[in-house]
Amino acid sequence: MKTDKLILGVPKGRVMNDTRRLFNRCGIDLSISRKDERAIFADTSRADLTLCPVRSSDIPLLLEEGVLDIAVLGGDVIAEAANLSFGSKRDLDICKCRLSVIGLPGAFVSRTYIRRPRVATKYPRIAREYFERQGCAPDIVKMYGSVELALLAGMAHFVVDIVDTGATIARNNLRELEVIQKTGAIALISHRTTGARRQRCHDLLSHILDAPHSLRRSAPAMSEEAIL
Ligand code: PRP
Repeated sequence: MKTDKLILGVPKGRVMNDTRRLFNRCGIDLSISRKDERAIFADTSRADLTLCPVRSSDIPLLLEEGVLDIAVLGGDVIAEAANLSFGSKRDLDICKCRLSVIGLPGAFVSRTYIRRPRVATKYPRIAREYFERQGCAPDIVKMYGSVELALLAGMAHFVVDIVDTGATIARNNLRELEVIQKTGAIALISHRTTGARRQRCHDLLSHILDAPHSLRRSAPAMSEEAIL
């Protein structure tokens, strides 16, 4: 399956949006044209680079298998993954956000408050470790989205989730109680990408990250209408 093109895996959503902006500042257009709307491998404005939109939860497997040469992944997903193997990484300095404990107004994290807190989260490993460090024995409820619902519905005492702008907790009258860790997006190079191909990955990331701001420019528009 390997082509000469480098394959860049990026999760859809906010990581994709910020990655596009970052690449765009260096003249690389990652927007997906109408013809590639359903393509697994989408063309970019660079002839030697293919974009592969993927789910972040699949990235550890795809890196391990060497399907992706480079993957952009949130630090939260990296911290949660137990056995993530990769060749090397570069911090992209984008998608800055916090992984926090969220609760209802008046709640606080303390063993004396609730000995066995019920915690809803997409990050069971991080949440368990955090509450155990506080001396609690958490009952972790794994969810895949709209985690804040668990608080509003009385399903959980706490949520461990991403806080970015804070709009979600503000809109739902919730409180950010503790910051567990600050996080951002990281570019990982597969350990299966070796030799000259790995060097090309490093060169690409250096081009993106080391370019002086004054040299960064917007990418020329792609010939077809970008839709994603
Ligand atoms: C994430 C996260 C929060 C929200 C926080 O959800 O799970 O719900 O963003 O962002 P904010 O602080 O800017 O409001 P996402 O949008 O990825 O969707 P999901 O809840 O379905 O996972």
